[in-house]
Amino acid sequence: MSKKFKSLGGMHDVFGEQYDYFDKVREVVSRNAKIYGFKGIETPVIEETGVFTRGVGEQTDIVEKEMYTFKTKGGEQVSLRPEGTAPIMRSFIEHSFYTKPQPVKFYYFQPFFRHERQQAGRYRQFWQFGFETIGKDSPIVDAQIIVLAHNILKELGIKDALVKVNNLGCERCRDKFKSALKKYLKSVASSLCSDCKKRMKKNPLRVLDCKECSVKEDAPQIMNFLCKKCSDDFRQVLELLDEVKVSYDLDSFLVRGLDYYNGIVYEIVSSSQEKPLALGGGGRYNKLSVLLGSEEEIPATGMAIGVERVVSLMKEKEVKLEKDKREVFIAQLGDLAKKKALKLFEDFKKTGLPVFESFGRDSLKSQLSRADRLGVNITIIIGKEEALAEKAIIRDMDSGKQEKVDLKEVVKEVKKKLKENKK
Ligand code: HAM
Repeated sequence: MSKKFKSLGGMHDVFGEQYDYFDKVREVVSRNAKIYGFKGIETPVIEETGVFTRGVGEQTDIVEKEMYTFKTKGGEQVSLRPEGTAPIMRSFIEHSFYTKPQPVKFYYFQPFFRHERQQAGRYRQFWQFGFETIGKDSPIVDAQIIVLAHNILKELGIKDALVKVNNLGCERCRDKFKSALKKYLKSVASSLCSDCKKRMKKNPLRVLDCKECSVKEDAPQIMNFLCKKCSDDFRQVLELLDEVKVSYDLDSFLVRGLDYYNGIVYEIVSSSQEKPLALGGGGRYNKLSVLLGSEEEIPATGMAIGVERVVSLMKEKEVKLEKDKREVFIAQLGDLAKKKALKLFEDFKKTGLPVFESFGRDSLKSQLSRADRLGVNITIIIGKEEALAEKAIIRDMDSGKQEKVDLKEVVKEVKKKLKENKK
């Protein structure tokens, strides 16, 4: 017997109920994104590796440890995208979106790839939906993305989402903060974990994010190093969130795992979970454009939310999905009846009244029990005899009453009956 294959570790098939939840998230995201003026974008799954090494940062865990990178047959060094922001900025520059009225607002719903250690809530292929507003440096565009994400989660039944915010400042504030932090970390170096001993020199901010090192409690705080513009912008975003009653917590240890941020950064967590995993995160990234070859700095801000984590929380909270509400089922028996039923199905569809069918089943009994389970009001039955006589039986599922009518009259009759039933 030949080998049976399984999906790769950390990768999963999406089907059944999980697919229905994905569909629900996708529908709520695209409807809200359009209301807020975001346009959809799809970038390729694979990019030149440099998009991420330069964009996300050489020293980040994502680039250092988690990227799926390989050489193509043509010798190009490419990577499966671990995130969506750098590719979208690459696309913005490549297609000269800066010549269009600014800002340009994109949204996406796509799979991403990170070779992470396998554990709950972490996958090697996972989906994110996200929003990027490019071309405007103003607190209101940062606030709008946070509000939009908050509203989407609320509509999906996650009403206790909490936004944790911090400000990483502009380059000048951050340079001052980094030297103070480095000095402090040197004084406590013996208590740092081995990873942080390395990070201390190259990427000291990441030490603040470390779950193992507890020295951060006494570390200097970025808020004390912010210039006037950075603190004014930050205050304004928070005031805007207050205005629309989106709750947030200040978290001076929030630094995010990607290097392109400056200014405000945030993560959304659910306050109901014991060990909360971030549902999403984002922030301002005004320098990314330059890292990706733009001559000018292009101000930008955005966030992304993990679909699997949202879906798992929806299930935990027992968020119910709306049932497919169709009122009619077509059952058939025999080859000729199948033909007639297929045509009838199309006739119903054309009139804007979609109906259920079970063309793959042959037994009338199993079709009728499916109609019962679906809770339809009317079942149309085309048996062998009816098919030959160009007729169909219309059965009212509540009263059990049946009536035989001409096939070409079925749609009209069913509509009439549904109207009467509603009275
Ligand atoms: P991120 O924080 O790396 O940000 O990812 C955002 C969200 O994606 C996480 O909060 C989490 O819900 C989900 N996620 C990340 N990795 C995994 C994984 N291995 N398995 C399951 N879910 C995962 C970014 O990716 C930035 N591009 C966000 C952004 C957009 N910043 C500005 N614009």
